[in-house]
Amino acid sequence: MTGGADGDLTLGVLGLGRVGLPVALGLAELGWTVAGADADPATAASLAAGEPLHHEPGVPELLLRHLDSGRFRVTASADAVRDSGAVFVCVPTPRREDGSTDLGQVEDVSRVIADHMDGYTLIVEKSTNPVGSAARIREALAARANGAREWDVAVNPEFLREGQAIENFLAPDRVVLGVESDRARDLLLRIYAPLFERNGSGSATADGRVLVTDSATAETIKHAANAFLATRLSFVNMLADFCESAGVDVDAVARGLGMDPRIGPEFFGAGAGFGGCFPKDLASFTHTLADHGVDPSLLEAVARINDERPDRLARTLARELGGLAGRTVAVWGLAFKPGVDDVRDAPSLRMVDCLIEHGARVRLHDPMAMDEFRKCRRAAGDAVHWAASALDAARGADAVLLLTEWPEYREVDALRLRESMATPLIVDGRNFLDREALVRAGFTCRGVGR
Ligand SMILES: NC(=O)c1ccc[n+]([C@@H]2O[C@H](COP(=O)([O-])OP(=O)(O)OC[C@H]3O[C@@H](n4cnc5c(N)ncnc54)[C@H](O)[C@@H]3O)[C@@H](O)[C@H]2O)c1
Repeated sequence: MTGGADGDLTLGVLGLGRVGLPVALGLAELGWTVAGADADPATAASLAAGEPLHHEPGVPELLLRHLDSGRFRVTASADAVRDSGAVFVCVPTPRREDGSTDLGQVEDVSRVIADHMDGYTLIVEKSTNPVGSAARIREALAARANGAREWDVAVNPEFLREGQAIENFLAPDRVVLGVESDRARDLLLRIYAPLFERNGSGSATADGRVLVTDSATAETIKHAANAFLATRLSFVNMLADFCESAGVDVDAVARGLGMDPRIGPEFFGAGAGFGGCFPKDLASFTHTLADHGVDPSLLEAVARINDERPDRLARTLARELGGLAGRTVAVWGLAFKPGVDDVRDAPSLRMVDCLIEHGARVRLHDPMAMDEFRKCRRAAGDAVHWAASALDAARGADAVLLLTEWPEYREVDALRLRESMATPLIVDGRNFLDREALVRAGFTCRGVGR
């Protein structure tokens, strides 16, 4: 073990993706020396050259700053493990066909750690894993490391939101530490101490944002948090369906509900549905509940409501256009939320498939996520046009369908938009656009739940 903010501790980060890179740079910003590794040679080479592969505000600047300061370096996994007193595991935990979590990459990393750790090593699970994963990793390590070395496995779930990853890491609303030994707890508190010294109570132990639990509790907190947030969204989308039928405005209903402090206004917008990590984490938690003999039907309904969103939007379009076959739909927004280039499990993927299945052509635009979307989609030939701008997407289209609330879509001139389209129809899948301005410009404007 070498180097460190307060002496002799280096931290390893395995997996430098959307979570691992902000975590590594956040730890470097706190003053630690960080050795990062990624199994993908292109990712590792690009980061070593100071070029992040994904858009994330603040990351390019911190990457250059800490490559320069020597507090962050990209190295091989074995070296990162050998040099480090604590290793943060940030590898993917994708969903299997049956909803359960594929822990293969976590297990691969555990083998590397078992083979290369040198001296006491704390393995910190940051990937989102189902309850019991830390215990499984502990067993695998015990078998492989042959009892020869000292180590602990802790769970420190990551709650950062893409698009605000650095901000969230450096000013978290909570830090959950799932530990099974005093040694692991003390080391994690030491690692996070600079965070609380710079903005808070001055000490991690005195800070109300730190919650120390056992590892299974920490794993459950992360899964339950995402399942709960997904439930809020499907609840408000169910309300939207009701409001559409009852002639009520779901946005006003959500505002009225959100004014109750027990409910709150955040994360309560009706729309095209959720994507990103939520669908896989929801599926994983649903699977885990069933494994434990707990009725998962509440969460199954949450997933079902979300899965039905694209069909509902397609029905709205078909109703307004008298069918979708032969129609051209401009899709504004492919990322699962604004400010990111991530399309993992984004509603846009299902929506575009659905439109094409119904015989429509699509003209796609996103300010950041076009490349990621292209990677995820099978070739669709003439049915897809990749547009250079929002207006280009709308050219000759029978409808604009907004799926991601990128601020620039609100700036599009309504009159120019109308002139460029074949039919003046907007379906606003996020209730985001300036509806009055669009109606004044002659558009028929349909939203969600109003
Ligand atoms: N993206 C989010 O907003 C978010 C938030 C909280 C938690 N999480 C969880 O964090 C974990 C990582 O998610 P992500 O979004 O960063 O994924 P990602 O795909 O963006 O990044 C993962 C990285 O790990 C690398 N990797 C895979 N196997 C490896 C190995 N054996 N050794 C070293 N590197 C390896 C991959 O090449 C990739 O660069 C997941 O469990 C996810 O659920 C994600």
